[in-house]
Amino acid sequence: MTAKTSSLSAHGLVAGYGSTPSINGIDLLVSPSTGAIGIIGRSGVGKTTLIKTMTGELKARGGRVNFDGATVGRLGMRDKKRFGVAVRSVAQNGFSGLDGRQTVEKAIEGELAKARKAGRATGASAEGAIAVMFLEPRFLKRTISSLSGGERQRLALAAALSTRPDILLLDEPTTALDQSLKDAVSRRLAEIVEENNIGLLVASHDLDLINRLCPTVHVLDGGTFVETGSVQELLNTPKHAVTRELALVFPETTGTFA
Ligand SMILES: Nc1ncnc2c1ncn2[C@@H]1O[C@H](COP(=O)(O)OP(=O)(O)O)[C@@H](O)[C@H]1O
Ligand SMILES: [Mg+2]
Repeated sequence: MTAKTSSLSAHGLVAGYGSTPSINGIDLLVSPSTGAIGIIGRSGVGKTTLIKTMTGELKARGGRVNFDGATVGRLGMRDKKRFGVAVRSVAQNGFSGLDGRQTVEKAIEGELAKARKAGRATGASAEGAIAVMFLEPRFLKRTISSLSGGERQRLALAAALSTRPDILLLDEPTTALDQSLKDAVSRRLAEIVEENNIGLLVASHDLDLINRLCPTVHVLDGGTFVETGSVQELLNTPKHAVTRELALVFPETTGTFA
């Protein structure tokens, strides 16, 4: 296995759209050595904003995001290319930069070629790459726009994983999946993250997923992390009002996290 050194960090990060930024002074480190980090919080609180700013898709309004010490958004050509394959994210809608008119095969082959060019030798075939997310070979000839939401979500995960990223940022990665696929996908993700030593950040309101993947979970509210702990700690002994609320609305968990 190659040495993994990539790290992605936020320092006093301020980000958001309106006059009051949703993210207001967040420090965060994501790297293979930190252990997976989960972000939970009410809808509209800024989870997606945080992830988009970490990937450089959205400009920080204050503070900074660093990739291996260099400011994301001001990376040179070489670092930018490395960042593109080493740090992968999957957006809530599952498109994540994928062109809907492309076939699944073409899109995945593009990803694999990108990985090889960046020195991440991958022996995977397109067929093997999508099988990781339980997509059968028959999907290869389909256009991405013809896929269902759940198929597209799994394709986006497969595409991100196919470049063997050091760091993976997932925004509500299982929302379009039914319960049995949710379980299968979260189990598979946990295996891949563990085996490949991937630094993981997951924003989700699916506490089963967060519980399986993330030993450390931050509760986002009012621009900052108001509480941190394992899912078990947060649900069993919530300290902040928002955490109590999240614990209450999480359905049928009694016993699950005991
Ligand atoms: N493109 C946008 N333009 C303006 N406001 C936005 C945009 N995207 C999100 N917002 C607002 O920013 C806030 C945080 O949104 P978001 O990060 O999507 O929250 P979450 O992912 O936690 O549900 C919300 O108030 C949302 O309405
Ligand atoms: Mg969101």
